[in-house]
Amino acid sequence: TERPRVLSGIQPTAGSFHLGNYLGAVRQWLPFQDTHDAFYSVVDLHAITIPQDPEALRAATRLAAAQLLGAGLDPDRCTLFVQSHVPEHAQLAWVLNCVTGFGEASRMTQFKDKSAKQGAEGTTVGLFTYPILQAADILLYQTDQVPVGEDQRQHVELTRDLAQRVNGRYGGDLFRLPNAYILKDAAKIQDLQDPASKMSKSGSSPKGIVWLLDPPKTSAKKFRSAVTDTGTEVRYDPAEKPGLSNLLSVYSALSGMTVAEIEEKYTGQLYGPLKTELAELFTEWVAPFQERTRGFLDDPAELDRVLAKGAEKARPVAAETLARVHEAVGF
Ligand code: ADP
Ligand code: NA
Repeated sequence: TERPRVLSGIQPTAGSFHLGNYLGAVRQWLPFQDTHDAFYSVVDLHAITIPQDPEALRAATRLAAAQLLGAGLDPDRCTLFVQSHVPEHAQLAWVLNCVTGFGEASRMTQFKDKSAKQGAEGTTVGLFTYPILQAADILLYQTDQVPVGEDQRQHVELTRDLAQRVNGRYGGDLFRLPNAYILKDAAKIQDLQDPASKMSKSGSSPKGIVWLLDPPKTSAKKFRSAVTDTGTEVRYDPAEKPGLSNLLSVYSALSGMTVAEIEEKYTGQLYGPLKTELAELFTEWVAPFQERTRGFLDDPAELDRVLAKGAEKARPVAAETLARVHEAVGF
């Protein structure tokens, strides 16, 4: 009757989460709190694979945690912790580094994109071994399922390969083999001004991206001025109507209505009313999110307490795995 374990992480970033982060990741984590033994981490060790200002990183880590709590993660129903509070992540990553082939690591496609952005001189070895740290994150907790987007599938495959290798080489069942739980594509949110590309902190224009902690009026305006086609029929059709279809996806996620129900509701209407009502829906949804998030940001002692409790829950699990691995390796 033990619940399957899920684990997911999100990087601390300066500024708030955007709507894509929320709908594509954080929101999908919430239901696992009722069905799974859910571990969620703000992965600050991953963040320093590219240069970070120390004070900004510290603030970003707290901001991410506050937003996760604001979004509805409940520390009594999941284990929410900061990665650097559990030193076993870096320790297991070292062991895994030593069983990963250089060629094997070189085949990770995400590294190629990320290192291209950093340039040859700016690319660290940490960025190169990022997927191995991710494998450690997953394997430390004997994770069953890893909810991720399609772009992370290769890293979960690597994690499985490493787990099997360690189990085979050192005997037994040191690691449980995790499965990727691929989050559905419908959760991919596009740039409001450029619906051909995904909403992204690094790629979107200021008006194309909705920041969850912006004044709601600012975001409402962005929905009302979202780029759509010149048609007149409210119909979900990502190929012909990418902008409108993106709005329908957001509408559906925020209202709980199916896309078909929304199409039905707007039959015979132009896009204007849909945009206006989506702006209102968002405004209603975001107010309590902002209030809860601010509550934690305004009470640093309470946030510290919550995160310390999360690390206290995570650490014994991680420590048990690491102790068995160290013993097996010969330490
Ligand atoms: P960004 O693309 O803005 O840099 P990250 O790469 O830091 O965001 O992603 C953090 C999390 O949010 C990941 O789980 C990622 O899959 C998800 N995510 C980011 N952008 C979107 C989007 N536009 N739609 C859906 N999910 C997204
Ligand atoms: Na990104």
